[in-house]
Amino acid sequence: MTLEELKRQAELSLSDLGVHDEAGVTAKFAEARETMGRERTSLVSRSTDLHFPRRVREFRNLILARGHGLVARIKENWLDATPKHLKPAAGRAFNSLRIIAEELLEEESILNIAKLGKTLELEERLDLTLPGNRRPLGSLHPVTQMQREIEEIFLNLGFRIESGPEIESVYYNFDALNIPESHPSRDDWDTLYIDSRTVLRTHTSPVQIRAMEKYGAPLYIIIPGKCYRHDNPDASHSPMFHQIEGLAIDCDITFADLKGTLDFFAKKLFGEKVRTRFQPSFFPFTEPSGEVAISCIFCGGEGCRVCKESGWIEVMGCGMVHPQVLRNGGIDPEKYTGWAFGLGIDRFAMMKYDINDIQLFFQSDVRFLQQF
Ligand code: PHE
Repeated sequence: MTLEELKRQAELSLSDLGVHDEAGVTAKFAEARETMGRERTSLVSRSTDLHFPRRVREFRNLILARGHGLVARIKENWLDATPKHLKPAAGRAFNSLRIIAEELLEEESILNIAKLGKTLELEERLDLTLPGNRRPLGSLHPVTQMQREIEEIFLNLGFRIESGPEIESVYYNFDALNIPESHPSRDDWDTLYIDSRTVLRTHTSPVQIRAMEKYGAPLYIIIPGKCYRHDNPDASHSPMFHQIEGLAIDCDITFADLKGTLDFFAKKLFGEKVRTRFQPSFFPFTEPSGEVAISCIFCGGEGCRVCKESGWIEVMGCGMVHPQVLRNGGIDPEKYTGWAFGLGIDRFAMMKYDINDIQLFFQSDVRFLQQF
């Protein structure tokens, strides 16, 4: 009996098929089993065929599917519709047919072959001539690039990189830096308070104290990091921005070392032609304090829009570490002296890449960021 023949016969009752006794029932069911077995053998012989897994699925469906599968059809038409006196024989024959049908499909061999076929089928679906999916590569943010460049210069001078918390105590952010509570200079930093004793650090200077406590002297560190101030965002202000602090403490450190180091730094970063200018300033944690300007990198010092015709651009604050600050950090100011500076990384990046709006850094617009 062919498979097609079996399909056709499965739709008819046993009496329609001329089966009227037990022997006939047994023979009919045996024929059905044989047909299924032959179909399986011929299927397995084509197991290297690309469509083998699909054929296995189809075969399984053909035989075991609920409702329309051969086993289900045979149950309905050959078993359920059979006259009472043939029921026991039909029942036994049907049970063995069902078990064998399931075994045909669940033997390990056919499943393994099916697995093998599945990989083949995957390969069939993999069209190597299709264009690939482009996955765009990211790159470092311009502020990060600037930070790394500055770090590199100081690392080469023997400085180490240090960091500290952005949520800082009032003690480290102000008191230890010689900025007394009632002193008007505390207003210079538009502070964001978390509570009366905790702030978002307004500068990287508190890490000066933390590092002195941690390492003592001598100490050569730079401290890059985020800072926060209660500033309204505009083209040159952002409530979150980046600073790099520099700190050198050792025996016999002088203002000449500070000038030499910062002049070297400016030339490394902006080119040999750049000049530096130191003007007196005031910070509670340095004495004396200075404001550093570099000759305008856009006009070379001739005077232009960027430097407001002055030829100079102010780039950082600096000074000799105040003896009280050294003491607060546990360092003896009779034995050690030091210098410190603080600069805004964002401003440096704006200068270097000629960007006129600090907000661009924080808007995460790929069209802008892609350019770096
Ligand atoms: N912390 C100062 C500021 O944010 C900058 C500074 C650092 C000045 C170190 C002197 C020495 O304005």
